[in-house]
Amino acid sequence: MLINLLLPICAYLLGSISGALLACRWLGLSDPRYQGSGNPGATNVLRHSGKKAAVITLVIDVFKGISAVFIAKLLTTSPLVLAGTSFMVFLGHLYPIFFEFRGGKGVATALGILMVLNWQVSLAALATWLVILVIFRYVSLASIAAAMFAPAYMFWFTGIPEYILVSFMMSSLLIWRHRSNINNLLTGQEDKINEA
Ligand code: G3P
Repeated sequence: MLINLLLPICAYLLGSISGALLACRWLGLSDPRYQGSGNPGATNVLRHSGKKAAVITLVIDVFKGISAVFIAKLLTTSPLVLAGTSFMVFLGHLYPIFFEFRGGKGVATALGILMVLNWQVSLAALATWLVILVIFRYVSLASIAAAMFAPAYMFWFTGIPEYILVSFMMSSLLIWRHRSNINNLLTGQEDKINEA
């Protein structure tokens, strides 16, 4: 059916709306892709452009994950289409067609996606993120840890093969996008949240 194609395509376009770039343009701030870590995400916006821009970034990036999967859930019950729509909104955030394909690392958008796919998985991933952040104070490490556990949480709470596969694919891409952070963590150069 046409809707099965339209949903992932529209999700990609929605994902391509970068919260960080919109927030910084609206507030007249510099492009976060040329500041700090170069990541157009809430952490880097907080680091260089302050709390207001970071909160707007976070809200937009989470909301687009929520809205894409929520709309898809209204229109289909197919786990394959829901998983495909989830992956495409995530991919849009990482490689946005509207912003030269230079997007973020996917943490906030993945959270929004998980919130609608299965709220228990999103809570477990968020709890993992918070625990690691409180203990180690590295946002990137918390994000990587949450991503590593997310497919297992999806297996535990849903057992739906399409959801488990898409959470594994999103986690793999998310960790890949954190490769500069991994290098910085290994060499002791990563900023802690209170030093950022
Ligand atoms: O959400 C991205 C975060 O995990 C790391 O961001 O700017 O420190 O590379 P950043």
